[in-house]
Amino acid sequence: MDEPGVIRGERVTLREMVRADVDEMARWPRFVEPELQWANLDLTFPVDRDGYFERGRSNATRRRFVIRNEQGELIGTIGLRNLDFRAGEGTLGIIIRADAVGRGYGTDAIRSLVRYAFDVLGLRRVILDVAENNPRAQHVYEKIGFVPVGTHRGPHGLRYIDMVLSREAFSQQGGRSTAV
Ligand SMILES: CC(C)(COP(=O)(O)OP(=O)(O)OC[C@H]1O[C@@H](n2cnc3c(N)ncnc32)[C@H](O)[C@@H]1OP(=O)(O)O)[C@@H](O)C(=O)NCCC(=O)NCCS
Repeated sequence: MDEPGVIRGERVTLREMVRADVDEMARWPRFVEPELQWANLDLTFPVDRDGYFERGRSNATRRRFVIRNEQGELIGTIGLRNLDFRAGEGTLGIIIRADAVGRGYGTDAIRSLVRYAFDVLGLRRVILDVAENNPRAQHVYEKIGFVPVGTHRGPHGLRYIDMVLSREAFSQQGGRSTAV
């Protein structure tokens, strides 16, 4: 982080979310895949956007960023929730907008956030869960070094895979979890 609230990746920049970002996100195209309907944020009305912003804004247990590409376009959101500094862990979540998936932005953004989690926040583990019917996300997490540690049933009986990335594993597989 070379300025407060900013994380630079190879191609993307993560910036702490501000309320105006949510108005931009309201214009995102929708995912058509039935299994990704959850990723279509309900931001139609100003009251929805206010609520989304307030629920997600950074606080003691949460960090929320928007992802911008090389052209400065807002192409996603990423964050850590359930931050527990005593346990040394937090839970990662990400959505890349439907018309920007599959171009490497998600991988870059996740690597950048994980590096920030270890180097700046001092976490020891980043955890997440990913639906069994989301092979693209699973592939990206595995590529970055997350390992499956179990499963649980979520809403609608869907099975989710619990995954963990430790600071040591990230550093060992070249994730540069120490400053370069
Ligand atoms: C999951 C997500 C964050 C990944 O970001 P992205 O920018 O699309 O991913 P990237 O372009 O960096 O990488 C995609 C990788 O998945 C691979 N991939 C694409 N479709 C795939 C599929 N159906 N099965 C397996 N792998 C797939 C690509 O080949 C690529 O791998 P590679 O780099 O080894 O070639 C993004 O797609 C997204 O936000 N999806 C919708 C919301 C979501 O699923 N969020 C995560 C919830 S846990």
